[in-house]
Amino acid sequence: MFDKLETYLEANKARFEEELIDFLKIASISTDSDFATEVRKGARWVHDQFTQLGLTSEIVETEGHPIVYAESPPVVGAPTVLVYGHYDVQPTDPLEEWESPPFEPVRKNGNIVARGATDDKGQMLTHIKSTEAWIQTIGKLPIQLKFVIEGEEESGSENLRPFLEARKERLAADIAVISDSSQFSATQPAITYGLRGLAYFELLLTGPNRDLHSGTFGGAITNPINTLTKMLAALGDSAGRVQIPGFYDEVLPLSNKERRQFADLAFDEQAFKKQLGVKGLSGEEGYSTLERRWARPTFDINGIWGGYQGKGAKTVLPAKAGAKFSFRLVPNQQGDRIAQRLEQFLKTLLPSGIQMELVNHGHGNSVVVPLENRFMAAAADAIEQGFGKPPVYIREGGSIPVVSDLTEILAIDTLLLGWGRDDDNTHSPNEKFNLADFHKGIKSSLYLWHEIAQKSAASI
Ligand code: BES
Ligand code: MN
Ligand code: MN
Repeated sequence: MFDKLETYLEANKARFEEELIDFLKIASISTDSDFATEVRKGARWVHDQFTQLGLTSEIVETEGHPIVYAESPPVVGAPTVLVYGHYDVQPTDPLEEWESPPFEPVRKNGNIVARGATDDKGQMLTHIKSTEAWIQTIGKLPIQLKFVIEGEEESGSENLRPFLEARKERLAADIAVISDSSQFSATQPAITYGLRGLAYFELLLTGPNRDLHSGTFGGAITNPINTLTKMLAALGDSAGRVQIPGFYDEVLPLSNKERRQFADLAFDEQAFKKQLGVKGLSGEEGYSTLERRWARPTFDINGIWGGYQGKGAKTVLPAKAGAKFSFRLVPNQQGDRIAQRLEQFLKTLLPSGIQMELVNHGHGNSVVVPLENRFMAAAADAIEQGFGKPPVYIREGGSIPVVSDLTEILAIDTLLLGWGRDDDNTHSPNEKFNLADFHKGIKSSLYLWHEIAQKSAASI
């Protein structure tokens, strides 16, 4: 049986790549309403993939962009797997830094370069292509699959929770699978068992009722940009710790065992610095780089504006200033509690001449998947078949809010099987996905459906 399946993958390699290229031409940027038609095209493309395989598929309308939901027939006595992915992508700016246009995919050094290549079109497609291989060669899948492919992941997944809640029974599954993260390195596949959460805010400060001459008024009127920089600076200290009172109250400390496991991974700090073009690293004192990235909370300013940005000098005392900033969260921090504490703290920092508005852009909590989950070994075996090497167990610093929703609403764990690489330029110019990883991902996924069926048969 596996001969047949693998022959199918081999014979269809070139077409799989062509289809990925086709998919990547769709500019499905979810956050920018100018691209709404393209986002819809993305949904349609995914829907067509499923219907061509004979799965029941539906484009589910939401208040925002549609969700594609597809299902294969139930398999008696075998588990059901929910596959989640996203067909939307990040904006392309700064456009001038792309070596080729973001929606004109090109092959380069064994990679495919385009916006969405690794995040998440290429990774998500591996599960559709493995499903195709089963259906076209064997005629059916060894387990039931339910696919939820959304179009708003990169803009906050606002309409996903209501969808999951409304279809709770229909979506019932034994385990979820998501490929939307990375391997440990180019030569070391991984299973991700933890992700950080995210809480995102925007702070707007207003001072005088108009921009003023900084000579006539400066010194007597509170400057919103000066205030903003002070307020933001007060959120962190020089030891890399967030200064909001109570911020660390719920943080679960890393166990010595986990710290040892992180330390045992062959992380090359020199190569990491070199790859990013930095001479030094910094972060919370007392923690290693992997601990800082995977298991400690952070504060980062994501955007800041105000005052004169044009050529030359303009002596202005601006009326307004603003910033976007976010916190990565770890177990057991709760986004809503962090938001409350932040607001209280900012109020204590506000001088009388300035008004503030704090916009909450939402949050997703962190997750840790228990390594004892009964499907973990199936995933490890499948990855070993696909990548030729057993995976290591890692955590990652990014966030996929649906993972905690799946636990809360559907009561299932998620296998996070990342086929990407840390240097794939996710959210950056020249995003890429390695084509060898694409095919290894398809092969792993193909074995995963089998291993999950086997493991559960063994445990009955
Ligand atoms: N695929 C990423 C999440 C990710 C990146 C997981 C790297 C593991 C490693 C996802 O598409 C993403 O970008 N998530 C956002 C959060 C979202 C609410 C916008 C993030 O992490 O910033
Ligand atoms: Mn993603
Ligand atoms: Mn992303």
